[in-house]
Amino acid sequence: MAVPFVQDWDLVQTLGEGAYGEVRLLVNKKTEEAVAVKVVDTASAKDCIENVKKEVCVHKMLTHPNIVKFFGHRSEGAVQYIFLEYCSGGELFDRIEPDVGMPVKEAHRFFQQLVAGVEYLHSIGITHRDIKPENILLDDKDNLKISDFGMATMFRHRGRERKLSRLCGTLPYVAPELLSRSDFHAQPADVWACGIVLTAMLAGELPWDQPSESCQEYVDWLQNKIYITPWKKIDSIPLGLLKKILLHSPENRFTISDIKKHRWFSNSFKSGVKRQADVPGPLAKMMRTDAERLQLGRANSDDRVQISSSQPEPQGLWEVRGDVLGIEGAQVCFSQPACPDHMLLGSQLLATPGASQSPWQRLVRRMTRFFTTLEAEPSYAALRDACVAMGYQWKPSCTSLATVSTMDRRNNKLIFKVQFLEMEERILVDFRLSKGDGLEFKRIFLKFKQKLFDVISNQRALIPFT
Ligand code: ADE
Repeated sequence: MAVPFVQDWDLVQTLGEGAYGEVRLLVNKKTEEAVAVKVVDTASAKDCIENVKKEVCVHKMLTHPNIVKFFGHRSEGAVQYIFLEYCSGGELFDRIEPDVGMPVKEAHRFFQQLVAGVEYLHSIGITHRDIKPENILLDDKDNLKISDFGMATMFRHRGRERKLSRLCGTLPYVAPELLSRSDFHAQPADVWACGIVLTAMLAGELPWDQPSESCQEYVDWLQNKIYITPWKKIDSIPLGLLKKILLHSPENRFTISDIKKHRWFSNSFKSGVKRQADVPGPLAKMMRTDAERLQLGRANSDDRVQISSSQPEPQGLWEVRGDVLGIEGAQVCFSQPACPDHMLLGSQLLATPGASQSPWQRLVRRMTRFFTTLEAEPSYAALRDACVAMGYQWKPSCTSLATVSTMDRRNNKLIFKVQFLEMEERILVDFRLSKGDGLEFKRIFLKFKQKLFDVISNQRALIPFT
C-alpha cells in the first residue's frame, strides 16, 4: 500500500501489526535513515482518533534512552501516521526462548534498562499500562526501548496523584488489584508487569493466565510453591526479587526505588556460573545479534547480507510495495534519489533520526522464517499439510498468504500469517503473529520447523552458528 506523502522514503517492510493497524519500516533513499511509521486507520473505530491523539500527546513528551523516540505525526484523511525511532533489534520477546528464557546476564541488563525507562515515565507522572515483551523493542546495540503508548495515561499532575479505575493491559501481565479493586495506584501495577517480564526472561514462560484466585498457578504462587515451574528454573537471588515484586498487596509490593536497592538488581553481574539458559538452545541460536551476524558474515560470505550503495538497485526488491527485505543471503542495495525532500516536512517534526545508522543497523531481524527446498506450489502444500496434521486451521487468503488459527496451551486464541515469498529462486516462508501470545507463537513456529525439517533448505543460511 503506498503512503502518499512518502516520496523519498522506501517502504521496506511491515514490522508488526495489531488491532490498531500496522508498523512499517521506512528507509530514506538519500540519507539511508530508517524510521518506523505506525499507520492507524481511524475510520475503523470511532474512539480510535481520540486514542491516537492521546498516544501522540503522551509520546511527544518523552525523552529517555530507554523509550522509543517520537519523531512526529501527521494525518492524511482518516489515516494517522506516527513516526518513531526504528529499533532494528526487534522485540524483546524474540530474545526469549520458550521454556528456557535467556542468559541471566542479558535478562539482568534488560531488566535494569526496563526499570530505568519505567522510572523515568513515573517521574513525569506517566504510566504505560501495557508493559510486556511485545511492547519492548531493542535497538542495534541491544538497548531496550519501551514502545507503544496507546494505553499510557497521566497519573500525576502538578504533584497530585490520581488513582486509576480503567481495566487495561494484557491479562497475564496485569496486577491482581486491577481485577479485584475499583481503583488502584498506577505505579505498583507497572512494577508488577515488569516482574512478569522478568519471569518471562528468566524462565521462558508466563506464570499464569491472570492473577486471580480462579487461576491455580496464581494460587500456587500465593502459597509459595516455588518448587514448581516457572519458579524452579530461577536462581534464588532473582527469585527473591520476584517475590517482592509479585506481592499480591500493592501496598507491600516493592517500589522502583526498592528494586534498585535489591542485590540482584544492583550487583554487577558475575558471568562465572553458567546456568542452563546460558547454553544457547535451538531458538537462541537463531537469535544472535546483528554484530555476531556481521562477524560471521566476514567469515562466511554465504551467510551474509551484502549491502552496498554502489551496486545497481535490484528490481522490485527495494521499492515501496509494502514488503520484503533483510533476508539472509539476499543482495540489497540502497538507491540514490535525486530529490532530497523530507517526508516529515509540514508535519509536526520534533527531531530527526540519527544519521549514524549503518546499513547493518537497518536490517530487519525476524527469526520466524525459513527457505524451503521446494518450488512455490509444493512449499505451500507442505505448509498447509503440516498445519492440518498439527490440528491448526489453515485459511488461504491467496496463493502466497494464509492465516493459521489455533488455541495455545492456555486455551487462548493464537492467529498468525504465513507468507510465501520468492527470493533468489527460493521460496521464503515468513511467519508473522497477528493475535495472541508471542512465546506460544514461537513454540508453534519451532514445531513447524521440526515437522518440515526435510524440506527446509540450507540451515546454515538461517542458523549460521550451528
Ligand atoms: N515494531 C513496532 N514498532 C517498531 C519500531 N519502532 N521499530 C522496530 N520495530 C517495531
